[in-house]
Amino acid sequence: MDLQDRRIGIEALAVHLPRNYLDLGVLARANGTDPEKYYFGLGCRRMAIPSADEDSVVLAARAAGTLLAGYGIEASSIGMVLVGTESGVDAAKPIATYVHRMAGLPSDCRAFDVQHACYGGMAALRTAANWVQSGLGRGRKALVIATDVARYDVGSPGEPTQGAAAVAMLVGDEPRVLELLPYPEAVHTAEVMDFWRPTYRSTALADGHYSMQCYLDALESCWHRFASATDLGLEAFDFLLYHSPFPKMAFKAHRRLCELAPGGTARGGADLDWERRVLPTLWANIEVGNAYSASLFVSLAGLLEHAEVDAAGARLGLFSYGSGSCAEFVAARVGPDAAAWRDRTGLRAALERRRELTHEAYLRSRRAYEERARDGSFRAALGGDGPAFCGTWNHQRVYRDSAWRAATGPSRSLDRPPRSAGPVAAPLPHRAQAAD
Ligand code: HMG
Repeated sequence: MDLQDRRIGIEALAVHLPRNYLDLGVLARANGTDPEKYYFGLGCRRMAIPSADEDSVVLAARAAGTLLAGYGIEASSIGMVLVGTESGVDAAKPIATYVHRMAGLPSDCRAFDVQHACYGGMAALRTAANWVQSGLGRGRKALVIATDVARYDVGSPGEPTQGAAAVAMLVGDEPRVLELLPYPEAVHTAEVMDFWRPTYRSTALADGHYSMQCYLDALESCWHRFASATDLGLEAFDFLLYHSPFPKMAFKAHRRLCELAPGGTARGGADLDWERRVLPTLWANIEVGNAYSASLFVSLAGLLEHAEVDAAGARLGLFSYGSGSCAEFVAARVGPDAAAWRDRTGLRAALERRRELTHEAYLRSRRAYEERARDGSFRAALGGDGPAFCGTWNHQRVYRDSAWRAATGPSRSLDRPPRSAGPVAAPLPHRAQAAD
């Protein structure tokens, strides 16, 4: 078979989330804001809050650990590890090197981070897929991880759009989860100052309303490129996944694409179309918040884990936007055994395990997170069952191997995915549910 004819994409996928969350109603009341603004104005319900020992390295390692150990993937079968992130912990040393060591990957394995705001995860996936396609890896697979902690200042407009997650993906030529369809690229780059985080800050800054305009401009440009290169319309897709800094943004994005379509391609009206083709991809984002580079892949995991949707064989349109900016529209197809991924990505289990924080505990958690990253503190002992990220000493971050080990569980086979134990109610964002 010609190399170009190979089917390439995601073979397996695992999600890791922080163990705590904050309800947006609690945040709204503490900020003196109407909760309806966060629940319905932005479409958010809860956001993941990382504890002091859950930085982007630990989230990445745990997602990768669940993926590799959970599915019995041999370390020697991995020839590349790429991490898409914009919340890296070091300006020089990549997260990929920590993951490489903890996973026991071979030394003839390329490892690097890919940074372009929220586009980093898609950029890493595309780079890995091209590498597999090229044949240079001699049949080996790539480990791609999108990991991020989204943080804004307390009291800033961005505060209700925080969150965190990591999604680890095995990329190869047996794309059981998602095949990337070989259409011409549809990308858009423009230097804009819509969202940024200078290296001396741990929280991001945004020109919020301008960033939404930049996002929509990039979407329009990518869509025009995709549609003119392929002759496909919006109706070619069963589901549309938009980068979701907050779910209302995905709503605005879908409305924009429907407006652009000649004669309108919304199936049964724009609102109904949104409920059918976009909302099923967003229920987990509503719970997690913005996870920057990982957000789009949280949507993908959410679709696979949706209790009432069997996405097997579905055609997906994925829109990735990274501030700064670079964006891409990608067409893909879900593998034939999608239903078998229910309860298997780790997403639903992680959501069910989470604990709610009070507003005071959220503020304490933020302070502890900052404190532990400060050099010279070395907050936690290395022995026993201590935290995964122990602190910093001599300008070096110290991780216990438990950052990896805690993620490993009973091995599952990739060839025969277990059947779902049964549907679990999907928390679709109905007004009545979010209001309580
Ligand atoms: P804001 O300015 O405080 O909010 O912050 P607003 O006044 O625009 O209100 C938001 C919505 O709530 C509006 O809905 C209001 O009408 C509604 P819309 O008109 O847009 O449909 N509203 C209410 N609804 C019900 N009851 C009420 C009520 N009050 C108001 N009582 C903003 C919003 C997004 C600007 C802010 O959260 C922010 O700065 N976020 C960070 C930047 C961001 O997320 N940008 C998104 C596009 S850029 C992107 O996606 C990239 C990114 O992920 C980073 C990366 O690439 O790495 C951010």
